[in-house]
Amino acid sequence: MIDGEKMLSLMKGRQSERRFLSKPVESEKIERITAAGRLSPSACNGQPWHFIVVDEPALRDEVAAATETAVLRMNAFVREAPVLIVVVREKSNLASRAGDLIKQKDYSLIDIGIATASMVYQAAAEGLGTCIIGWVDDKRIRQSFGIPASRKVELVIAVGYTDNRLREKSRKPPEDIITYNRY
Ligand SMILES: Cc1cc2nc3c(=O)[nH]c(=O)nc-3n(C[C@H](O)[C@H](O)[C@H](O)COP(=O)(O)O)c2cc1C
Repeated sequence: MIDGEKMLSLMKGRQSERRFLSKPVESEKIERITAAGRLSPSACNGQPWHFIVVDEPALRDEVAAATETAVLRMNAFVREAPVLIVVVREKSNLASRAGDLIKQKDYSLIDIGIATASMVYQAAAEGLGTCIIGWVDDKRIRQSFGIPASRKVELVIAVGYTDNRLREKSRKPPEDIITYNRY
């Protein structure tokens, strides 16, 4: 079992990477990353996800193009990532959907966020950099893969080797966000 300090140092070492080396990513590492997503917890164990690993260059370019915006010049770096993981939100099971109605919240969106977090931390443990991309043209990616309109492409994870240079983390101070026994 990994110890607490090591686990936290993994968290400290993960950052959004926007530059990737062209070095290919080993398939066994991608298998462990997607396994981490698969093993994630989800409301009523609904597992409302499908992960598409995209490493075929033409398809990868299509997915990358669907994350770019000309106006804001966002996400141009996605093209450089050797592997993209498309996170598709599937329909959850009946119990989870009943929970959505009763509690007025979308558990499946929470679930895919958790699965995505699991994958980026597994990637960090594999010595790989990632960037979670939320700015995606859902329709365009659905068309590329023939994904039905009832499903939604929520996120793309860019994965690859980097130069391993860590930036300082920009986070709210603990005293502003963590309290004990009070709000
Ligand atoms: C749901 C989600 C969507 C994101 N979308 C984008 C994106 O479209 N483009 C991008 O460059 N970064 C994106 N990010 C990365 C965040 O900007 C980044 O996680 C945040 O600034 C904190 O920096 P760090 O990951 O380096 O610690 C996204 C992160 C999350 C969790």
